[in-house]
Amino acid sequence: MKIAVLCILLCAWLPAQESSIAGAPSGLRCEYLADPVGIDVRQPRFSWVLEHSQRGQKQSAYQVLVSLKLEVAAGDQWDSGKVSSSQSVHVAYAGKPLGSGQTYYWKVRYWDSGDGASPYSSVARFETGLLEGADWKGKWIGGANQIRKEFTLISRPVRARAYIAGLGYYELRINGRKVGDRVLDPAWTTYDKRVLYSVYDITERLRQGPNAVAVMLGEGWFKSHALRIEIHAELEGGQSVDVATDPSWKTMSGPIQSDSVYNGEVYDARLETPGWDRAGFDDAHWKPATLIEGPKGALSAQMMPPIRVVETLVPLKLTSPHPGVYIYDLGQNISGVMQIRVTGPRGTRVQLRHAELLYDDGTLNVENLQEAKATDVYILRGDGSDEVYQPRFTYHGFRYVELTGYPGTPKFDTLRAKVVHSDVKPAGGFTSSKQILNQIQRNILWGIQDNLESIPTDCNQRNERMGWMADAHLYAETAMLNFDMPAFYTNFLRDIRDVQGADGTVTDTVPHRYGSRPADPAWGMAYPLLTWYMYEYYGDRRILEQHFDGVKAWTDFLRTRSHAGILDYSYYGDWVPIEKTPGNLVSTICYYWSADLVSRMAEILGKSVDADAYRKLAAGIKDAFNGKFLNPESGVYGTGSQTAQILPLFLNMAPEGKRGGMLGALRDDIVYTRNTHLTTGILGTKYLFPLLTRTDNSDLAYELATQTTYPSWGYMVENGATTLWELWQNKTGPSMNSHNHPMFGSIGAWFYNALAGINPDPDKPGFERIVIAPQVVRDLQWAAGSLDTIRGRVSSSWRRADDGLRLEVSIPVGSEAEVRIPKLGMAAAGLSESGRIVWKDGHFQSGASGITSVKDDAGVLTVRVGSGDYAFGLKRE
Ligand code: BGC
Repeated sequence: MKIAVLCILLCAWLPAQESSIAGAPSGLRCEYLADPVGIDVRQPRFSWVLEHSQRGQKQSAYQVLVSLKLEVAAGDQWDSGKVSSSQSVHVAYAGKPLGSGQTYYWKVRYWDSGDGASPYSSVARFETGLLEGADWKGKWIGGANQIRKEFTLISRPVRARAYIAGLGYYELRINGRKVGDRVLDPAWTTYDKRVLYSVYDITERLRQGPNAVAVMLGEGWFKSHALRIEIHAELEGGQSVDVATDPSWKTMSGPIQSDSVYNGEVYDARLETPGWDRAGFDDAHWKPATLIEGPKGALSAQMMPPIRVVETLVPLKLTSPHPGVYIYDLGQNISGVMQIRVTGPRGTRVQLRHAELLYDDGTLNVENLQEAKATDVYILRGDGSDEVYQPRFTYHGFRYVELTGYPGTPKFDTLRAKVVHSDVKPAGGFTSSKQILNQIQRNILWGIQDNLESIPTDCNQRNERMGWMADAHLYAETAMLNFDMPAFYTNFLRDIRDVQGADGTVTDTVPHRYGSRPADPAWGMAYPLLTWYMYEYYGDRRILEQHFDGVKAWTDFLRTRSHAGILDYSYYGDWVPIEKTPGNLVSTICYYWSADLVSRMAEILGKSVDADAYRKLAAGIKDAFNGKFLNPESGVYGTGSQTAQILPLFLNMAPEGKRGGMLGALRDDIVYTRNTHLTTGILGTKYLFPLLTRTDNSDLAYELATQTTYPSWGYMVENGATTLWELWQNKTGPSMNSHNHPMFGSIGAWFYNALAGINPDPDKPGFERIVIAPQVVRDLQWAAGSLDTIRGRVSSSWRRADDGLRLEVSIPVGSEAEVRIPKLGMAAAGLSESGRIVWKDGHFQSGASGITSVKDDAGVLTVRVGSGDYAFGLKRE
């Protein structure tokens, strides 16, 4: 008896103990960044990932402490107290006003559902930039492409920072060495509106006594030179010193003879000025820098992953199609530059040309680069030493490099490729049993990364590389599912707002250099869509607040150009299709879509008048659209192209009673008329896949995704693509045919959403609620996806088994999920989780921790789960 009582007590006690195992929060972020240096948001937001040993756990309360002291013994700047809230992301700082150039330390703990407290997290930090305009004592100065200044510190620095805005691009050097690892900095912005500055911790780089700061400037997108620096050093003994740009800085042309993003760099090493970046250099013959007006834009802190050299590649192949002409093949289309190692006579001119393609005779084909010369030249110093050169202020999109002028016979290791792009970290992964899908996924990853160059570009090789807005929104979801993107898109949304006119217009490219104002309506969709994705994927309500007026103004502008609900103007529409779709059909859909998104955003923000007004506006556009473009007899939209059916079906614009017939006709066109091929351009292609999955046609979507004949992604792969092409056609001539254009990478989102089955639920955005709905299609044996969301890792991987299906799912603490497990046509199926029966004889068997219900929804078992790791087994009963 006593033993029985003890056992009951123990059993009751054990789970209670377990429930209190709330782990210290991890992955602390401030404004999406880990320990950012240089932020200028006055109320930065904190996010953390919850850890817990038990399933079905949530946060019931949190406490954040912010301090100026590293130990964070107390929240001397902010102590939130114990706040009853499930919010573990975007908790806004609400302490004492932040000061300029300060380092703040913070930590957080939380209480779980049972009020069990976690330990405190380890300490994270964030550092403010220069918050007030008046904090900048430095003036804009100009001059040649090398600028320097010496100064003396009377004692050792204990804390020193450099704030630098250097246009077009800069390389900051202190006491003989480059500072930091950023390249092609700062990010490209609309300089008349905004210039970004970067902040470096230079404490270890300065010393008591004489110091030198030296800056190399490139033209970049600014096409000129402008420099503004602020160095602030606190010294042992309590003094502080400011060194700022003014006409006392000295300037002189350096070895870079010319530099251009498109054309490359010419570097004459004979013109190097050794020692110029060290103290004690004789600059008596250098000219004083001049005060210049500088760009008009406000200075803002650059708060996103910088561009870096992220990887070094060794060429795979070296050939010589002609004497003295050497072709290196990297085996991969990249964005970046080559580093060359060479020894030879003074004045020898070595040239590197870059291209995506070769002619049949093995020589370089640069036709599709159009005006971009993509040529770097290095002129040797010739002092007998090993000379190493790597261009600073350019980048190229290429797989092949032609080396000429090399003194002697080059070897494999004469050249190394440096991959250069915004250093967004991987956040997701997708693999499957189907090789062609894995190859397409690989091409998508390269294609997207190659085109994140502080803005999302259209291509990386010819003389464009613009922030074309349609391209940007078409591959944004794929980017968000594969990389850590929120800081990048937060910046790009601000770039969009910076180009917006008083009349609400946005532009085809952002910053605006090419294309039109107003943007093609399908290009302008980037504004509402990226805003919406930031909400859907990261739960970022502040972004909605910041951009609501802008998105609304763009929609209002479209309204001024519409007639009776129809928007006629269009430049590109469903771009680069196999079969064209009328431009006004596409534009009117975008007009509808913008109005619908404004209404949804208004609803979330509690703006009920707007929500109502734009819902009505959208409804009116929908009626006008159906009245004009839908043939009531045939039930076909427009000219009958696939895109003309896909878009209204995807957006539920088509009259309900007609949807089934339309879908059938679309399927027939794909399967019978086109022999299972699409005819879509960039817009139709993206939405075809989710449409097919939503309507139970995932098998067909899969056949299209794995198709290897023209037009398809597999066709690109079969023809040697290592990224994605701009066109479905395999072209290599002087016309528009980039071989690295990520816009068709939209299909990558479907790999995650449908094949792995990972989906955000906009009703609880930021993956607070997740829908796991894997599509077990055709010959696919298994698929696996994972994503590090702002709340932690979500993963889903499934495998067919002889008797059914295995599915493993992970849901972050604080989130919940609906897991939809297809019954694979079985009349009666049982479901177990980690060996325990949860569905039997058509009924939910309760008791498994974390699982709240199982239901049979027409061929799919829908399981509701809380956080945790689950291993499901589906078996025929
Ligand atoms: C770009 C595209 C862009 C288009 C506008 C092209 O030159 O490379 O990707 O969206 O122009 O239609």
